[in-house]
Amino acid sequence: MRMSVIGTGYLGATHAACMAELGHEVVGVDVDESKIAALQSGDVPFFEPGLPEITRRNLDNGRLRFSTDYADAAEAKVHFLGVGTPQQRGAYAADLTYVRAVIKDLVPRLTGDNLILGKSTVPVGTAAELQVLADELAPEGTTVEIAWNPEFLRESHGVEDTIHPDRIVLGLREGSTQEPLVREIYASQLAEDIPFLVTDLQTAELVKVSANAFLATKISFINAVAEVCEAAGADVVKLAEAIGYDDRIGRKFLGAGLGFGGGCLPKDIRAFMARAGELGADQALSFLREVDGVNMRQRDRVVQLAKQLSGGSLLGKRVTVLGAAFKANSDDVRDSPALNVAGQLSLAGAAVSVYDPEAMANAAKVFPTLTYAQSLRESLEGAELVLLATEWQEFRDMDPQEIAQVVDQRIIIDARNVLDPAAWAAEGWQIKALGRSL
Ligand code: UGA
Repeated sequence: MRMSVIGTGYLGATHAACMAELGHEVVGVDVDESKIAALQSGDVPFFEPGLPEITRRNLDNGRLRFSTDYADAAEAKVHFLGVGTPQQRGAYAADLTYVRAVIKDLVPRLTGDNLILGKSTVPVGTAAELQVLADELAPEGTTVEIAWNPEFLRESHGVEDTIHPDRIVLGLREGSTQEPLVREIYASQLAEDIPFLVTDLQTAELVKVSANAFLATKISFINAVAEVCEAAGADVVKLAEAIGYDDRIGRKFLGAGLGFGGGCLPKDIRAFMARAGELGADQALSFLREVDGVNMRQRDRVVQLAKQLSGGSLLGKRVTVLGAAFKANSDDVRDSPALNVAGQLSLAGAAVSVYDPEAMANAAKVFPTLTYAQSLRESLEGAELVLLATEWQEFRDMDPQEIAQVVDQRIIIDARNVLDPAAWAAEGWQIKALGRSL
C-alpha cells in the first residue's frame, strides 16, 4: 500500500523504514532538510540498531524514499503522523505546535479520501481537535479522517518493536469504517496473532500515555524502595528479583538506580498530569508528581554520594562519568540522567571526563564544557572516582583488575546496579550503589 510518514525522528524514520520492510511503498516527509538528505542517502542521522540496514535495503529496492515536500506525501491516501510533542517551555503540558502544523501543511494538498493515523503521544482529545481542523482545511470534495494508532516502540529496540509489536491499538471516531484498511496495513503482523484492539479515539490516546505513566511509576516505585533499603541495610537488587518472580509484578522495569530520562517518560507523565488538570481530574494523577520527584531525586542522591566518596568536596576531583545517553544502545541525550549528573558534578567543581560509545557528539552539543574522552580507557586515566551512569554492555564488561591499573583511586559508583560488587571488591575497589548497603 502507498503511504506517507510525516516526521522522521526516532519514531517516524523507524516506522517509515519498517512499513517499507513489510512491503508497503513509503515516503517519509520532514521539514528538516539535512535529516531528509541524510536518510535519502541511506545515512540514519541517529543511532538505532538495525535501522540503517533496513533503510538502505528499502531505498535500494525502491519501496522507501524521503522528501521535504508535502506534495510527495499527498500522493498517498494513508498518512502516519509521527512528529514530536515535547514539553512546553515553562509548563507541564505537551506542545502540539508540530502536530497541528502537519495538519495545516498536509490537508490542503490532499485529494480524494484520506486517512491520517496519529502515532505521536498526545493529550487526550487531540485527535478530535485535529479532526475539526482537518475538516476546515480539506479542499472541496476531499475527505480526511483522523484516527489514532499509538506507537509503543522503545528507542534502541525500535525495529524489532515495530515489526513485532506486543499489540496494535487503533482509535476510531464513531461510525468510522476504516478498520479494514488498517487491518490491511498491518496484515502481516495480524497474521502472527498480534493482538489488535479497536477503541474510540480518547481511549487510544490514553492507552499510550497510561502505558508510559505505568512504566515510570514502576521505576520510581523501585527507586523509592531502594531509598528504604539503604536506610534499613537491605539490598534492592535482590528484593527486585524476589518480587519480580510474582508474575503479577514482573522483574522488568524494576531496575533501581539513576532513574528514567529520555524524550518520552519524563515529559509524558507531566503532560498527563496537565491534561488531567484541564479535565478537572487533577487529583487522580497527583501521585505522578511523586513519581517525577522520586525520579529526579535519584540524580541528586548520586551527586551526594560522589561528594561523600570524595571526602566532602568535589572541588578539583577527577571524576569519570561512564555514559551520556539516557539509556544503553542509544545516542539520545534528551533529559539524560547520566548527563544531568555529569553536569552537576562539573558545576560542583569536579574535573569531569565523560565517555559514551555513541552519544558523545549529542552530549557535547548540550554540555560543551565537559571533557569527552575518545575511549573508555582514556576516560579512566587518573580518575579519582568512577561513576557508571548508563548501562552500556562495554561498561558491564569492564574488568576490575584491568581498570585498577588505569585509575588513580579504586572508587566506583554503580548508579545502574549492573556490576558484580563482590568481583569489584575482590580487586580492592570501594564500590557503592543506590539501594544496596555495600
Ligand atoms: C519508552 C517506552 O518504554 C516505550 O514503550 C514508548 O513507546 C516510548 O517511551 C515512547 O513513548 O516513545 P524509551 O523512552 O525508548 O521508551 O525508553 P525505555 O526503555 O522505556 O527507558 C526509559 C528510561 O527508564 C531510561 O532512562 C532507562 O534507563 C530507565 N529505566 C528503565 C530504569 O531506570 N530502570 C528500568 O528498570 C528500566
